[in-house]
Amino acid sequence: MGLRILGWGSALPEKVVTNHDLEKTLDTSDEWIRERSGIGERRIGESTAELAIAAGRAALERSGVEPASVDLMVLATTTPDQQVPASSAHVHYELGLGGGACDLNAACSGFVYALVMANGLLESGANRVLVVGAETLSRITDWSDRNTAVLFGDGGGALVLEREAGEGQLLGWDLGVDASAREILECDIGGFIRMDGREVFKRAVRVLVDSAKRTLAQAKVRPEDVKLLVPHQANIRIIQAACDRLGIPEERTALVLHRTGNTSSASIPLALVDAIEAGRLEDGDLVLMTGFGAGMTWGSALLRWQSPPSASGASA
Ligand code: UT7
Repeated sequence: MGLRILGWGSALPEKVVTNHDLEKTLDTSDEWIRERSGIGERRIGESTAELAIAAGRAALERSGVEPASVDLMVLATTTPDQQVPASSAHVHYELGLGGGACDLNAACSGFVYALVMANGLLESGANRVLVVGAETLSRITDWSDRNTAVLFGDGGGALVLEREAGEGQLLGWDLGVDASAREILECDIGGFIRMDGREVFKRAVRVLVDSAKRTLAQAKVRPEDVKLLVPHQANIRIIQAACDRLGIPEERTALVLHRTGNTSSASIPLALVDAIEAGRLEDGDLVLMTGFGAGMTWGSALLRWQSPPSASGASA
């Protein structure tokens, strides 16, 4: 038993904050932000649950799946709306889902963690799982700190997964955490993100590359056979360095960073959905998702793309 993807969706807040907007309040420049990070603008606003509901609803509609037939919804987020209850409970209620719901926090690797855990659940008997990555990092960003304020944004992305007989679309995965580096990127409850950017950068390239290689080796796939790399959208230079070391051309990456900034758990699904909707994937294509984040966590997952049956043909 394995997973197949039946639907996808994403959501971004309406409010756009450009680098030029930030120039007005911070000692920074559009040129610096673009050169050092690749970010041109980010979207800000709404709550984490609202973004998750919008992305989840779009994914469910596209899949044709009856919300009540979902067995579990996992919301990957580092920015829940409240400490208690979990934001996933709100999402579950608004979408009219069946089964259970829980939040998962593995920082920017959260969506990959959720996907891998969903795969395990489908293998062990669940029929349908909704995985969502949604964040409102703008609420934990210190807008007077130029080291972090230029980087983060809000958004959400979702996939509807169904149990499938046979190998399924998830061919390999790798999850990890090295908490000896937990202090280089952190945020206290009620506080703001603090980050040693250079240290995160250095480690990020290393863990992305190692995790991606382990995942490919597990599935006996060569880097040159990867059709689309969907990396965590934190910094274009991290992505370029990882592509370089993996031997995957940069043109084969899914990128939304320039218009979303770093949206943590939402970044991989936002980039994946963007690539799917741009028609960049054909049946049989290999898609490698790879992320890293606070903790430091990392996670990679290799998928074989398969277009789902049309919404009307999907089982309810
Ligand atoms: O999801 C994971 C989240 N985090 C990350 O992935 C972050 C990883 N790190 C990075 O993306 C990069 O390290 C940054 C974009 C944060 C910084 O880029 P950098 O090329 O590593 O710059 P730097 O930290 O080495 O700073 C270079 C200079 C410094 O000035 P001095 O000391 O050379 O005079 C900084 O103070 O740039 C200065 N600086 C800025 N200047 C203009 C730092 N932030 C800014 C800014 N605008 N926003």
